[in-house]
Amino acid sequence: MSKKMHLGWFMNYAPPQWLDPFDRVNTSWTNADFHIEMARMLEGACFDYLMIEDTLMVSNAYGGSTEAALKHALQVPKLDATVLAAAVAKATTKLGVIATASILSYPPFTLARMIASLDHLSDGRFGWNIVTSGEEQAAHNVGLDALPPRQMRYDMADEYVDVVTKLLASWEDDAVVMDRDTATFVDHTKVHEVNYVGKFYKSRGPLNVPQSPQGRPVYLQAGGSPRGRQFAAETADSIVAIAQGIEGMIDYRNDVRARAQAAGRNPDDIKVMFLVTPVLGDSAEEAEAKRHKMVNTDAFITGQLGMISTVTDIDFSAFPLDEPLPPLTTNGEQGSLNKFTQGGSDKTLRELATTETGFASCLPLVGTPASVATQMAEAIEAVGGDGFLLTTPIQHLSRRYVTDITEGLIPALRDLGAVRESYEHDTLRDNLRAF
Ligand SMILES: Cc1cc2nc3c(=O)[nH]c(=O)nc-3n(C[C@H](O)[C@H](O)[C@H](O)COP(=O)(O)O)c2cc1C
Repeated sequence: MSKKMHLGWFMNYAPPQWLDPFDRVNTSWTNADFHIEMARMLEGACFDYLMIEDTLMVSNAYGGSTEAALKHALQVPKLDATVLAAAVAKATTKLGVIATASILSYPPFTLARMIASLDHLSDGRFGWNIVTSGEEQAAHNVGLDALPPRQMRYDMADEYVDVVTKLLASWEDDAVVMDRDTATFVDHTKVHEVNYVGKFYKSRGPLNVPQSPQGRPVYLQAGGSPRGRQFAAETADSIVAIAQGIEGMIDYRNDVRARAQAAGRNPDDIKVMFLVTPVLGDSAEEAEAKRHKMVNTDAFITGQLGMISTVTDIDFSAFPLDEPLPPLTTNGEQGSLNKFTQGGSDKTLRELATTETGFASCLPLVGTPASVATQMAEAIEAVGGDGFLLTTPIQHLSRRYVTDITEGLIPALRDLGAVRESYEHDTLRDNLRAF
C-alpha cells in the first residue's frame, strides 16, 4: 500500500488541441461543453480539483509581436476563468473547482464577493488561485503604467488577501435567521463592517453575500521565489509547485513547511502539488515515440519559447536555438525561468525547449500506465507528500489525453492504493485535508 497522493489538474486555459486528426475540437470549447466533459471525467477519477489558469493579455513578449501567441493559441483566446468555473461547478458535485484571479484585476471587495458567490454556487467546492500577475502587458491592460516589482506585488498581495479574508468573515455563519415569527431575514447584529485601511487597499464592508459554505474558499498559490514561498506558507491551502526532480521537490516542500511552521501554521494544512505531464503508451517504446513526436515540431518549440517569453517578459526569439543561453533574470516568473533554464545549464536553447515533456514537468513521466504510476508513488514516498497537478503542454489538451489519464493512469494508481477511490467529504478543503 503506497502513501496516498492528492491529484489536481492544472488547466492552461487556451483552446484544446485542434490540429491532431484524432482530437479536432470545434467551437464547443467556448461554450464550456469541452471543459464540463473534462471536469466530469476528473470527478469520476476522484481528483481533488480542476484549476483554471488565467492571464490578462494577448502577449507580444515573443518577437515583439502578438503573432506567436495568436497563431499558436498560447494562453489566448480564452474566456474569463471565474465564469468557466461557475459553469463547471454547476455540472459537478464533488470535484473542487479553482479559478485564477489576479490582485490587479479587481478591487478586493469585488473579488471577495465573487469568490464567496462561487463558493455558494459550488456548495463549498470553490478555490481561488491568488496571483499577482507577472507580465508588463497585464499591468498596462488594467491601467497601470508599469508592473510593480516582485517584492511590492507580494506586499500588495499580503494586504489584499488580508482584506479579502476579513470581508469573507464579515457575516457570522448564523446571520441568516429567516425567522418567520419576527419577519427577520438577516440578524443585522451578526453582519459587521470591516473598515479596512491599509497601505494599498481600503474597504468598508460588510460584504453583501452571506458567509459561504467553506467560510472562506480554498486559497491556492503559484510562485516559487523565496518571497512567493513565504506568501504561500502564510496564506495557501494548496500550492502549484514546479521543481527539478525529486531533490528539487523535497527542497521545495520542506522549505514551505518550515516557513509555515515558523508562521504558526500546521504544515499539514498546505498541500504542495507538483506539476507533471505524463505521456502514456501501451509500451515504454510507444510512449517514448509519442513524446518524441510531440516535442520535435516547430510548433512545440515555438509554443514552449512563446510561453516562457510570456511569463518572463524575456524575448526568447532573440537567442540562437543551437547555443546555450546567457544568464537571465526576470521581474516575472523567476521560478519558471529557473526551471526552464535548468538552473542555468549549458544546454542549447533547443535542448531546453524539447526536454522531456515540457519545461513545467517536475519529473520525466514517460511510459506505461503501470510504470508511470509506480514512479509517481515512489516520488511521493520519497518527498513525503502531497500530490501532483497533471497538466499538458500548451496546445495539447484533448479528450484523448484526459482519457489516457483517467482510464489508464488512475486505475494503475488505484492498484497501488496511491489515490482515493471515492470522495471522503463534500467540500474542497475537507477533501484536501482528508489525508
Ligand atoms: C506553475 C505556475 C503557474 C502560474 N499560474 C499563473 C496564472 O494562472 N496566472 C498568473 O497571472 N500567474 C501565474 N503564475 C505566476 C505567479 O503567480 C507569480 O506571479 C510569478 O510566478 C512570480 O512570482 P515568483 O517569482 O515567486 O515565481 C504562475 C506561476 C507558476 C510557477
